[in-house]
Amino acid sequence: MNHALTRAAIAAALTFAASGAQAADKIKVGFMLPYSGTFAALGTAIENGFKLYVAEQGGKLGGREIEYFKVDDESNPAKAAENANRLIKRDQVDVLIGTVHSGVAMALAKAAKDSDTTLIVTNAGANAITGPLCGPGIFRTSFTNWQPAYAMGPVAFNKGHKTAVTITWKYAAGDEAIGGFKEGFEKAGGKVVKELSLPFPNVEFQSLLTEIAATKPDMVFTFFAGGGAVKFVQDYHAAGLDKTIPLYGSGFLTDGTLQAQGASAQGLLTTLHYADGLNTPRDNAFRADYAKNYNMPPDVYAVQGYDAAQLMQSGLTAVKGDFSKKADFRTAMRGATVDSPRGPFTLSPAGNPVQDIYLRRVDGLENKVVDVAVKKLADPARGCKL
Ligand code: PHB
Repeated sequence: MNHALTRAAIAAALTFAASGAQAADKIKVGFMLPYSGTFAALGTAIENGFKLYVAEQGGKLGGREIEYFKVDDESNPAKAAENANRLIKRDQVDVLIGTVHSGVAMALAKAAKDSDTTLIVTNAGANAITGPLCGPGIFRTSFTNWQPAYAMGPVAFNKGHKTAVTITWKYAAGDEAIGGFKEGFEKAGGKVVKELSLPFPNVEFQSLLTEIAATKPDMVFTFFAGGGAVKFVQDYHAAGLDKTIPLYGSGFLTDGTLQAQGASAQGLLTTLHYADGLNTPRDNAFRADYAKNYNMPPDVYAVQGYDAAQLMQSGLTAVKGDFSKKADFRTAMRGATVDSPRGPFTLSPAGNPVQDIYLRRVDGLENKVVDVAVKKLADPARGCKL
């Protein structure tokens, strides 16, 4: 027997088997999302949206099957680094998808950068993620906290409001949303006269509502989301404040929450990068498929998850499913135009959507689109050096 030939044949067979195995390997996607606490419904909507797009593609992205891993991050920043490393080191995921809470997301982005793992942020608006923490592997399909809140500034001023009190949770998302609103409102000519806050995720609003009533501003601007937003809108209404001091917010205040808020939310005006009643063929098809699969209408969180899968699809298609071409995968994602249900968007150099911000009014169980508050709004990406 010719040993050299045999060895060569075995080597060839092994190489063939290895490449076959690689092609058959699934792409590992790690969801780091809140599945408990005040943001639990938001995490589920993001996962639902992501999986819906993958299902629409026959269960594959770029021709590769997807394997899912998940961690409940509980919206707890203290556990964020450890939770991120479960997905990165233990599960060795290829792409991280998450999360909702800005404080958790900043730790997640640091862990992603340290391990050079690609991250698509599907909600958390922390300005730093596409600011000082930006990087070639960091992407976002949602927004910065600055974006929707800034857009409300001129809208509110143009309704005749000259003074505002703000109220929010004291953490990155609240602080930055208030900062965005204040910038837009004061640039237009208004004045924020008082900034109120309480720790995340507390919902004891009574003493703060009393302070608002005593201050008598022309309006109130707020950032709350999820379970906390439900309670805030109910309490504001129950205190009768909505009769004298109109309430405005970034649209998280009323997204995915209207069933629970009921009458207390009717007529509220908010600004966000998604709305009900857009009535485009793209959005209508998405909404029909989402409702069919999950028995409820989609919200902004579902859209952000869906678009993360679309963004991954752009990257994987460009490299023909070969995930070892990481740099090309990322370049293709950065240059993609995402055919989102919200309307098509591109990414800024820092990796954040450049997108229209809608003005919406609560009508029944919908955040009906009223207008485009700002077209193609790009976050200033302060501090991002690429
Ligand atoms: C955030 O922490 O960045 C955050 C959380 C919930 C939202 C929006 C932003 O709905």
